[in-house]
Formats: sequence, structure tokens, C-alpha cells
Amino acid sequence: MKIYIKTYGCQMNERDSEACSGMLVARGHSLAETEKEADVLIYNTCSVRDQAERKAIGKVGIMKRLKRKKPDLIIGIMGCMAQNHGEELLKELPHVDFIIGTGQLHKVPDIIEELSNERVKHVLVTENPDVLDEMATHYAIDNNQIFAQVAITRGCNRFCSYCIVPYVRGREISRKIADIVKEVNELVQNGVKEILLLGQNVAAFGLGGDVNPPAPDVSPFADLLVELNDIEGLERIRFTSPYPSYFTDKLINAIATLPKVCNNIQLPLQSGSDRILKKMNRQYTAEQYLEIINKLKKSIPEVTFATDVIVGFPEETDEDFAATRDLLNEVGFVNAYLFKYSPRQGTPAAKIADQVPQEVKENRHQILLEDLKQRTVAHNKTFVGTTQQILVEGPSKRNSERWTGKTTNGKHVMFTWQDGIQPGSIINVAIKHCSTASLFGDIVE
Ligand code: SAH
Ligand code: SF4
Ligand code: F3S
Repeated sequence: MKIYIKTYGCQMNERDSEACSGMLVARGHSLAETEKEADVLIYNTCSVRDQAERKAIGKVGIMKRLKRKKPDLIIGIMGCMAQNHGEELLKELPHVDFIIGTGQLHKVPDIIEELSNERVKHVLVTENPDVLDEMATHYAIDNNQIFAQVAITRGCNRFCSYCIVPYVRGREISRKIADIVKEVNELVQNGVKEILLLGQNVAAFGLGGDVNPPAPDVSPFADLLVELNDIEGLERIRFTSPYPSYFTDKLINAIATLPKVCNNIQLPLQSGSDRILKKMNRQYTAEQYLEIINKLKKSIPEVTFATDVIVGFPEETDEDFAATRDLLNEVGFVNAYLFKYSPRQGTPAAKIADQVPQEVKENRHQILLEDLKQRTVAHNKTFVGTTQQILVEGPSKRNSERWTGKTTNGKHVMFTWQDGIQPGSIINVAIKHCSTASLFGDIVE
């Protein structure tokens, strides 16, 4: 059968979709480029904000028309929204054939095959079975792919008061170091040069789900980084997202000393106000957060930071917001994912009476976006006149003479292609000018 998968949400969902694709192709199915040519439509969904849910529901709703024309069409919803609402979704979307939660994704091929024999609704939403091994399948790694995502943990135990993830992804579990190393080795054998390690809280890897931050000399995540750094042929290691409290001295030291671990670190802040951080159930203060940033800056001179911030959390005042804005400027984040707070049913923050009005959220969001733009432009200018080592990705989409690659900080660099350069090459580029989004330069020997 021809299967079309559309993914919403975070990288973990992208990774799950890729694993599903891999499992389906291994069973003899093929992937469709468009919804029209497919026999099966699968929507891998997100619940983190209201908008994410509405987008997916809208999209699946529209597919009712296609199904009327093509009654054999199989339509399924998987992922976080499937886990969150389960059978309820069938009320609004009665044309859907299956709903599969986050812990049952490995059953997607079986369900599809059953549905092609007999049409009964399948709703599989259970808690937290261990699907880690099946989910290690990759799709298209022998297809000149130089980049791959590798899930190292699943689930989350932190229960930040605004967040639905612990409810839809279940309790935190870590894979074994040996299994991850084996997976990465196989990827590298197939040409992968850069990996992105994924987890809701990667820095808590291997701690058995304990929410108490470890001692300064403890970090199983650092042990994993050491082993991955030893893999010959692997060039770059990135990770997302770590919760700040697990940045022990041991981890900071590993990031600073392991050459393959990249110099751009995503460290979710959420708010710069201690009062709001506490209400968010984030287990650190602004000062403790800055302490980690400063240790990293001291041990890695070229380090850059990215972060996640929520504006308009319930009871956030102008002073709280000003504290966030000041902290963002003080750290000098070069990238930030800025979100307007969205109440999630069943989470403690949604029950707080004093919700911030939508226009205040919009206003605060705009202010931070503008600050970020200015910081990014200023930061890009600091690269002009320097030489950067980049990992080549391939021709740019608009102009095939121009190729692109990334610096260790994750900056996109455009350069003119030369003989012998291929995806995965490591080259030096002298940066000549920049835009808001990219750097431009010429190859140097
Ligand atoms: N595990 C990751 C975050 C996963 S969710 C971490 O803790 O770093 C990605 C981001 O979405 C969060 O960092 C947060 O900034 C944002 N987010 C989560 N719940 C939200 C909500 N209810 N409203 C708005 N943004 C939210
Ligand atoms: Fe959500 Fe907090 Fe877990 Fe991140 S650490 S997934 S924000 S509960
Ligand atoms: Fe969304 Fe689920 Fe990721 S809720 S952000 S897809 S873990």
C-alpha cells in the first residue's frame, strides 16, 4: 500500500514518523508524496498548544471529502493528540479508522494490514509500554543522508505546571548506552555525519527518572557523549532539549572537552522571573540558570545558546515579563523559541484563575521577537571576516550553484560549489557577508 505520513509537533514526533516509515517500508509498503496518491493517510499529532491540535483536527477534517471519493482510503491519527483525546476524537472525526497513542506506534503496520482486510475502528491508547527498540528503525539512511535523529529517552517526569507532555508521553525511560552506540554506529556506516540526540529531557538520561538533580560529578548523559564522541566517522553531536538542573560540572566539562559535541546549546529558560518559575514548577531560579550559562561560557569561549520561553503564563505581570526580557538580553541568546502560553486541560496552570489576556500575550511575544531579530543580526555580523569550519549539506533549494552547510553553532552558511565537495564534506569557509538568516562566504584551503 502507499502510505502518506504528515507530522506535527516536535522532533520526537518527526523521529517517530521516520521510525514508522521505516517499519512500513520494511513490510513492503511504499511512501506517498501526496495525500491524493495514498491508500493510507496517517497524521502524527501534537498537543502541546491549542493551535497544534486545531491544525491537525482541521487537516483530518478536510480529508473527509477525499474519503467520500475514495471509500477504501484508510485514515489514522497517531501521536500525542491521539494519546490525549483517544476515542473522543471519533466524535468530531467519524471518518477516522484508527487512533494510536504514543506508546503503541510500533503497532501501526499491523493495524493498517488488519484494516485492509476488515473495517473496524481501532483505538489503541495505553500507558507507557516500552517501545524503544522498535522505534530505533530508520528510514532512508542509505540515501546519502548525512544527518539523523536518535531518541535516547522517551517521556518526561518533570510535570512543569503548564505542560501536557508528561501526560501524553508517559514516564521517562532511558535507553541503554550500548543500544544507542550500536544505532549510531549503523547510521555512521551508512554515511551519517551529524546526529541530534532527542529526549524531553536528554540531560536526565540514565538517572532512572529521578527528578532530584544529581551531584556535580554525576552525569550518565556525559558518559554517553564520551562513547559517541569515540565513533569514527561521526563528525558532530547535537542534543535537544535538556532541563537546566541536570547541567552538572561533569556534563559541562564533557561538552567543553569533547570535540564532536557542538557549540550551540539549547537550554530552555521558560521565564526569567523566579516567582513565575516557581509557579511553573521549574526547579531553578534565574540566578541558578545564569550560573550554568556562565560556567558554559567560561569553559567554551565560542559557545552560543538557544532557548524556549513562554510569555503570558497565568499571573505574569509587567515586572515578571521585564525580568524575562532582561535575562534573554543578558545571556544574548542567538535563537529562541518564543511561545504564548496556551492552557492545557488537566494541567495545574490551566486552573489558575488569573489568566493573562490574549492581547497582552501577543504584545509580549512581539517585543521578544523584535529583540531576538536584533540580536541575531548583530551576532551574524560578528562572523563576517572570520573563517568557519562547516559540515556541507548540499545544494541550496533556490540556486544549485550555491551550496549550504552549518557551523558548529548551527549557523547556515552559503558558498559557491567547487569540484570534489559533496554532502558530508568538512570545509573551511571565509565569511564575507550575512543576512538575518544566513552567512555567505568562499571556500578556503
Ligand atoms: N521537554 C522540553 C520541552 C518540550 S515542549 C523542555 O523542557 O525543554 C517545547 C516547548 O513548548 C517548551 O519548552 C515550552 O516553552 C513550550 N510549551 C510547553 N507547554 C506549553 C503551553 N502550555 N503553552 C505554551 N508553550 C508551551
Ligand atoms: Fe514539559 Fe517540563 Fe517535561 Fe519539558 S521538562 S516536557 S516543559 S514537563
Ligand atoms: Fe507536541 Fe508531543 Fe512533541 S505534545 S511537542 S509532539 S512530545
